[in-house]
Amino acid sequence: MAWLMVAVLCYATTQPIPYSHKKHIAAGLKCKDCHTGPDPGERMTLPAAPKCIGCHPTMAGIKQPIAWKRICAVAAGVYWSHRTHTNAGIECETCHGDVSKMDVMTRVKDITSMTACMDCHRERNAGLGCELCHEGK
Ligand code: HEC
Ligand code: HEC
Ligand code: HEC
Ligand code: HEC
Ligand code: HEC
Repeated sequence: MAWLMVAVLCYATTQPIPYSHKKHIAAGLKCKDCHTGPDPGERMTLPAAPKCIGCHPTMAGIKQPIAWKRICAVAAGVYWSHRTHTNAGIECETCHGDVSKMDVMTRVKDITSMTACMDCHRERNAGLGCELCHEGK
């Protein structure tokens, strides 16, 4: 069941607008121009039309928020925070791959299985206790 969840949630998919990371990173945009990690809050956000309209005035008619399809998600009930990981100095690319080459956002490696979390935690001497991800919060 676990592998099936990963397979369903983590592969490239057709988006409501054919957005390309490759084109926009090449145009000089930074991740944080579109993805903010609001505090309080543990998630990144996906952009709504106002982030696009400055450069694409024709998008002013789009209903918001845009129904972007998710590529990857951590299983419900597992505690996960983007902020602690980026604050620890881990680059976006370490987990998400070289986004600047992706016309279509794709999963390049497993980042949502328990093994994926544990392997890096072991490498970087982060916590391994069950309660860290399952109950502590
Ligand atoms: C700072 C300006 C800027 C912002 C902000 C921006 N874009 Fe773009 N976008 C561009 C440029 C420049 C291109 C053309 C790149 C190329 O063709 O190489 C482009 C191309 C595109 C294309 C391909 C079709 C076309 O017109 O060439 C789509 C679709 C698109 N953008 C969607 C979006 C969406 C959705 C957002 C908001 C999440 C967004 N853009 C935000 C500058 C921007
Ligand atoms: C101009 C806006 C824009 C910029 C700049 C941008 N993104 Fe995105 N990002 C999007 C949009 C729109 C989506 C949803 C559509 C898609 O998946 O392609 C998205 C989706 C994603 C996803 C998929 C999340 C999921 O699980 O569904 C990841 C990961 C991501 N971006 C990482 C990055 C990184 C890393 C950078 C910087 C290198 C970046 N993005 C720069 C607009 C942007
Ligand atoms: C330690 C690994 C890791 C790092 C570093 C990381 N991410 Fe993620 N990212 C994930 C995981 C895991 C998910 C799925 C989380 C979920 O289910 O909400 C995710 C989801 C996302 C999403 C989808 C929205 C969300 O929060 O669910 C976006 C957008 C995103 N990441 C962008 C970024 C950007 C931009 C950076 C760098 C500033 C970054 N990520 C750094 C692992 C990481
Ligand atoms: C690329 C390495 C890496 C990956 C992958 C990774 N982590 Fe971490 N994680 C760390 C590091 C380093 C810390 C310690 C950060 C600190 O204490 O400053 C940490 C800390 C944590 C913490 C404790 C801090 C907090 O946010 O409460 C939790 C919980 C956590 N990670 C959950 C996860 C989960 C769940 C996954 C998989 C979906 C995951 N991590 C994947 C490197 C990683
Ligand atoms: C660093 C974060 C992290 C730690 C620490 C952690 N887990 Fe997990 N665990 C996860 C994630 C993420 C999943 C969801 C995996 C999936 O759905 O693919 C998970 C799933 C599980 C599942 C369900 C497995 C399944 O196949 O559905 C069990 C049982 C579990 N963990 C037990 C434990 C036990 C016992 C410990 C302590 C030895 C522990 N976990 C420590 C992140 C963690």
